[in-house]
Amino acid sequence: MKNKQFSQEEQSVIEQVIQLRRDIRGNHFTDQSVSEKVIEQILSAAVSAPSVGYSQPWEFVVIRDRQIKSNIADIFAIENEKAKHQFDQKESIYGQLKLEGICEAPVNIAVFYKPDTLPVLGQTSMSSMGEYSVVCAVQNMWLMARALNVGVGWVSILDPERVKAELAVPKANQLVAYLCVGYVDEFGTKPELEILKWADRKEQHSLVHYDRYSGLG
Ligand SMILES: Cc1cc2nc3c(=O)[nH]c(=O)nc-3n(C[C@H](O)[C@H](O)[C@H](O)COP(=O)(O)O)c2cc1C
Repeated sequence: MKNKQFSQEEQSVIEQVIQLRRDIRGNHFTDQSVSEKVIEQILSAAVSAPSVGYSQPWEFVVIRDRQIKSNIADIFAIENEKAKHQFDQKESIYGQLKLEGICEAPVNIAVFYKPDTLPVLGQTSMSSMGEYSVVCAVQNMWLMARALNVGVGWVSILDPERVKAELAVPKANQLVAYLCVGYVDEFGTKPELEILKWADRKEQHSLVHYDRYSGLG
């Protein structure tokens, strides 16, 4: 629709989708199945994302197979065990956190960056722009899913090469995101890590500078 103008009501909807999106882990997924149509809508949001030089450098693996999910969960368990020792005084809290929903979520989607073999317009000075484009696709998926009342959890405590081997991914592709997707028992109004006092939300005004960085920052 050319030059569509959004009404106040529509503006409020996108604001709510953004504010009420949550990262969902295994303690909140239900086993209600997710239809192919819903997955297609989420993937359609992904491929509508902006990308550097219109390179669309993304590829997706949609996983429903229980054995594959279980193998990925094993990869998570190894990495998570290593990770917890890096948090010193917070180690005991870390051990209690649920940081994935790989087996609980009916669908997992692995999102890959497929680098171009030729120079990409716009990516000539800052080489990470390809990966950043894929992250734009991931955020579109997360928001579209929320609008469909479907939860998404991003799992990054994984060895990307082991995940690639499990999913038979071409060597050149890079894992950007491993997403757990499914219906939920509830969407919280605040991040779980904020509720559990792992971290506080930063004040917006402390993050924004005008013209130049000011203060001690
Ligand atoms: C790049 C990225 C990686 C993340 N990896 C994990 C992860 O491995 N495990 C996890 O439980 N949450 C992960 N998260 C979710 C964050 O913990 C979550 O977004 C944050 O706590 C704020 O909560 P909210 O998404 O509900 O607003 C990740 C989020 C992002 C953006």
